[in-house]
Amino acid sequence: MSEKISVMISEDELEAKIAEMGKKISEDYAGEEVYIICILRGASFFACELAKRITVPVIIDFMTTSSYGSGTVSSGVVTIKSDVEIPVEGKNVLIVEDIIDSGNTLHYLLDVFKDRNAKSVKLCTMLDKPSRREVHVDVDYTGFQIEDKFVVGYGLDYDQRYRNLPYIGVVEL
Ligand code: IMP
Ligand code: MG
Repeated sequence: MSEKISVMISEDELEAKIAEMGKKISEDYAGEEVYIICILRGASFFACELAKRITVPVIIDFMTTSSYGSGTVSSGVVTIKSDVEIPVEGKNVLIVEDIIDSGNTLHYLLDVFKDRNAKSVKLCTMLDKPSRREVHVDVDYTGFQIEDKFVVGYGLDYDQRYRNLPYIGVVEL
């Protein structure tokens, strides 16, 4: 219970970036409806704040995937633990993630939603650790690129803790 956390991205920086991303998304989807798919649980804080900054009509649905055990290393195999409820066929799907690390999760989800005949599928992530990529993924909207540190807060956890921190912090393991 006593890891040391240092601030990497402050609450103010996050809010400013999310407002900027919301504006860009609203411009890009002008005249359309966006179907946000929030990847639980990590992306929940980010997806809600982002949705508040989008001015075109928004539908939000949730999905839970798993590629991690309880530790800090990805297993590489992505599974859907709970699926969306609203059909995506013909919708403009915007998959919203907390962080892209190996790329396995978003790479897999992109195929899933294309196979379900969405009208369009775009990817949006709050954080990106490009140095950790195992598979190439084209991300449409990225908040911050960060170095290879294990981060928590704003939805991100370390063994389910620290999701409620209002900033992005680094765990000194
Ligand atoms: P990927 O499939 O390897 O790209 O991993 C994506 C998922 O790994 C994210 O949705 C997070 O849940 C988790 N993850 C990756 N890096 C971190 C981190 O630094 N802190 C917390 N979770 C992480
Ligand atoms: Mg996640």
